[in-house]
Amino acid sequence: MLLLIKNADVYAPEPGGRCDLLLGGGKILRMEPDIRIPRKYCEVLDARNFKAVPGFIDGHVHIMGGGGEGGFATRTPGLPLTDAIMGGVTTVVGCLGTDGYTRNMAGLLAKAKGLEEEGLSTYVYSGSYGLPLRTFMPSLEEDLLFIDKVIGAGEVALSDHRSSQPTFEAFTQVVAMARRGGLLSGKAGIVNVHLGDGPRGLDYLRRILAETELSATQMWPTHINRNPRLFEEGIAYAKGGGFVDFTTSTLASYLRDGEIPCSKALRRMLEAGVDPGHITFTSDGQGSLPDWDPKGRLQDISVGRVTSLFPAVRQAVQEEGIALETALRVITANPARILKLKTKGRLAPGMDADVVLLDPRDLQVRSVIAKGRLLMKHGKALTKGMFE
Ligand SMILES: [Fe+2]
Repeated sequence: MLLLIKNADVYAPEPGGRCDLLLGGGKILRMEPDIRIPRKYCEVLDARNFKAVPGFIDGHVHIMGGGGEGGFATRTPGLPLTDAIMGGVTTVVGCLGTDGYTRNMAGLLAKAKGLEEEGLSTYVYSGSYGLPLRTFMPSLEEDLLFIDKVIGAGEVALSDHRSSQPTFEAFTQVVAMARRGGLLSGKAGIVNVHLGDGPRGLDYLRRILAETELSATQMWPTHINRNPRLFEEGIAYAKGGGFVDFTTSTLASYLRDGEIPCSKALRRMLEAGVDPGHITFTSDGQGSLPDWDPKGRLQDISVGRVTSLFPAVRQAVQEEGIALETALRVITANPARILKLKTKGRLAPGMDADVVLLDPRDLQVRSVIAKGRLLMKHGKALTKGMFE
């Protein structure tokens, strides 16, 4: 069945004016004013009072759960489909975190395939916080070559007490393997890098650019908004051509301790002259949000949510005065380009039919379409996960 979205105010993410979108076979077939199709051939969604934007891409989600940093009882649950639907997230990239032992690549791939069956588009990174990387095949290159869902490595932890304290050489080898595997497979071959609060910050990434032939396109450092010092480093790194990712799941205590809200971080980066195409947001959904005391003892632990992703973009528009088309890029066109997801992140004929309809008054997510299938209509989820 075709789906015809009528009279939407299109942000592709750039403003496209009033258009109809004809969706079929999981793709956007046509996008132009006044498409006429006999009603018996298509379902019609009247969008005259809505903005149509690309489905959101969340490039860092612990889809099978994560955490465990306070013992077994603190292992976090996997991603419920409903969270993605309510958050307008139609594409997720799954990762493993601190725990690459009770969680592994087989489980991560199985969860990614399950979410795909339930309607999302899913990808994964190979490995987890620690090095040497635990891949599914004998090497990262082979994971990239032979497992469709693998698009890179990560999240490899640096400058953090939870990292494996990798040497510069060990980390560089992972970026090199990602580069080679990416070239051979036609994928991004990118390393998603978790940055902690440690004083070494982005040191290894800068050294890779200064001392090797590898380029900034192979590294996607995340949590760059976690403290003012790392954020300032991030500005310089991005102005030098790197990508920077901010994490939208947060705690009040993190913000008190100096974490910069994503909306403010975006405005400050833009004011500093960073290329808007180099900035992204991810949620760290289902990851644990541990609250450590000054002596490194765990005080409390809660769970990140993919539903935090778009509210950070909305906040950037409503509170920081950033244009919607600029703010949208950080969860649509930018991650699609950085991750080489060629059919994602934009509204145009030939692209995947991932569409979110926003209420223009309050920018609330009202309808969600993933690969041409309506998952939410007028604020109500039309489906749910198998065991929800
Ligand atoms: Fe992380």
